Amino acid sequence: MTSAFSAVKRLTVLAAGAIAAASYPAKPADLTTPVQQRIAINGPNSISVGWNTYEKLDQPCVQYGTSSDNLSLQTCSTSSVTYPTSRTYSNAVVLTGLTPATTYYYKIVSTNSSVEHFFSPRLPGDKGAFSMNAVIDMGVYGADGYTIKMDQTKRDTIPSIDPSLNHTTIGRLATTVDDYELVVHPGDFAYADDWIEKAKNLLDGENAFEAILEQFYDQLAPIAARKPYMASPGNHEADCQEIPYTSALCPDGQKNFTDFMNRFGRTMPSAFPSTSANDTAKVSANKAQMLANPPFWYSFEYGMVHFVMINTETDFDDAPDAPGGSAHLDSGPFGYAGQQLEFLAADLASVDRSVTPWVLVGGHRPWYTTGGDGCTPCQAAFEPLLYKYGVDLAIFGHVHNSQRFQPVYNDTADAAGLRDPKAPMYIVAGGAGNIEGLSAVGSNVSYNAFAYADDFSYARLSFQDANNLQVQFIRSSTGEILDTSTLYKSHTERFVMQS
Ligand SMILES: *[C@@H]1O[C@H](CO)[C@@H](O)[C@H](O)[C@H]1NC(C)=O
Ligand SMILES: *[C@@H]1O[C@H](CO)[C@@H](O)[C@H](O)[C@H]1NC(C)=O
Ligand SMILES: *[C@@H]1O[C@H](CO)[C@@H](O)[C@H](O)[C@H]1NC(C)=O
Ligand SMILES: *[C@@H]1O[C@H](CO)[C@@H](O)[C@H](O)[C@H]1NC(C)=O
Ligand SMILES: *[C@@H]1O[C@H](CO)[C@@H](O)[C@H](O)[C@H]1NC(C)=O
Ligand SMILES: *[C@@H]1O[C@H](CO)[C@@H](O)[C@H](O)[C@H]1NC(C)=O
Repeated sequence: MTSAFSAVKRLTVLAAGAIAAASYPAKPADLTTPVQQRIAINGPNSISVGWNTYEKLDQPCVQYGTSSDNLSLQTCSTSSVTYPTSRTYSNAVVLTGLTPATTYYYKIVSTNSSVEHFFSPRLPGDKGAFSMNAVIDMGVYGADGYTIKMDQTKRDTIPSIDPSLNHTTIGRLATTVDDYELVVHPGDFAYADDWIEKAKNLLDGENAFEAILEQFYDQLAPIAARKPYMASPGNHEADCQEIPYTSALCPDGQKNFTDFMNRFGRTMPSAFPSTSANDTAKVSANKAQMLANPPFWYSFEYGMVHFVMINTETDFDDAPDAPGGSAHLDSGPFGYAGQQLEFLAADLASVDRSVTPWVLVGGHRPWYTTGGDGCTPCQAAFEPLLYKYGVDLAIFGHVHNSQRFQPVYNDTADAAGLRDPKAPMYIVAGGAGNIEGLSAVGSNVSYNAFAYADDFSYARLSFQDANNLQVQFIRSSTGEILDTSTLYKSHTERFVMQS
């Protein structure tokens, strides 16, 4: 979401009293200390490890193994990159050949690092039940971000997360860390471009922007270092601040998704080779692999789920963040004209439901939402493909609250409801919490089934078996379950193609 107008107002009101003070985290004395750790599913037997350091590493390395006191394996890369205005280098190492669904211990090689652990990805076709969380529009917490009800009196008992994050979404992800296996986050991460919201930042926006990124990814690390954290772009990754028509004034490094690409470009996956016995499916999957452009659009498989990330910001007709687009963020394109949609069609066509019965799509801007702020060009570009290939559930954010819709196509509810609909079910999981606050539910639509904007919240998706997917919304501060629904799909057709 955008708050440009209120920001301009605040700029005018507050500039007079501003004291320049970007809230950078303290730089560790040992510059090889890993910060901002994050892992991701990178392939069927593969986990990528990303982290930042305050100096360039000649050879970023990760040691790992299945026992915490025997990290006998080591993988290194030469990938340590930065961009103008960043204080840190972003490092990436990809671990391959992992035994599936197994706990691994790993240590980023440094004179000042500790052992962490992850659960390696379930192979495509593993029908074991598991859950994933969807959190969107999260934002930094604290001096540069949102402080829940401005109440900082509550303190946390979770040792691994910053105590001030108690009762935030990050805090809830920490207390429930054994309840889910991965997290998807389609866009709007730190809200670094909202530095303008705090008076103390007004005279030093360039540093404030970087300070917010450092703080946010430090706050997220206890979660993202342990659970695969799958990222795709939102409008807040596009440029240095959201005042319309001014992105040309952004310093190099703070426009056109630069930090997002540096951070996630080498760790998000492409598309997996098909494990279907069907040759047409293999050819489609190979095509999708060539057309994928992580971290902007890509897919991955995990157990009984095929998950596709789309880019609702650039790279389709009338894309809002593209040059000339409605958001005036002057970004992209990142592929040739039509590449993203060709990818999406090939990728969805390749899915063999006997291997991965569930097909989900994640993106940032919704077209189904209460409050009348849907992305019409997104609907025109993506909805027909989602319907044609029988996507089961589509997850969006951008609107800062939680919403669930009946399965719907072309603004018409599917008469089957949750009992084996042809149309995708849609949710908005944009209530994770950020400096812009929650969006009011606003005007209703007839196919809405649930909407909540009273407190911060996120979605938990539990894949029970090949036919039942439970979708819940969780109130971050209390853990209360706000809404539960179960989508039943018969998944009788191996390759869905419907008109
Ligand atoms: C080592 O890392 C910890 C955080 O993981 C940090 O607090 C400490 O300052 C670091 N020590 C040095 C010498 O850099
Ligand atoms: C450590 O693990 C490797 C295999 O990963 C094994 O060959 C080796 O024997 C183990 N060492 C110890 C001391 O257990
Ligand atoms: C193979 O997959 C294609 C879609 O990729 C589908 O149209 C075709 O029917 C499948 N063939 C068989 C034998 O299942
Ligand atoms: C944004 O970056 C992409 C890829 O690096 C580049 O092709 C594109 O031209 C850039 N767009 C703008 C507006 O600078
Ligand atoms: C969508 O619905 C409108 C009427 O509301 C109709 O004119 C249009 O043909 C429909 N489009 C599709 C693809 O079904
Ligand atoms: C919107 O309307 C639907 C259908 O009348 C209703 O079920 C739903 O609860 C309403 N949602 C909100 C947020 O009022």
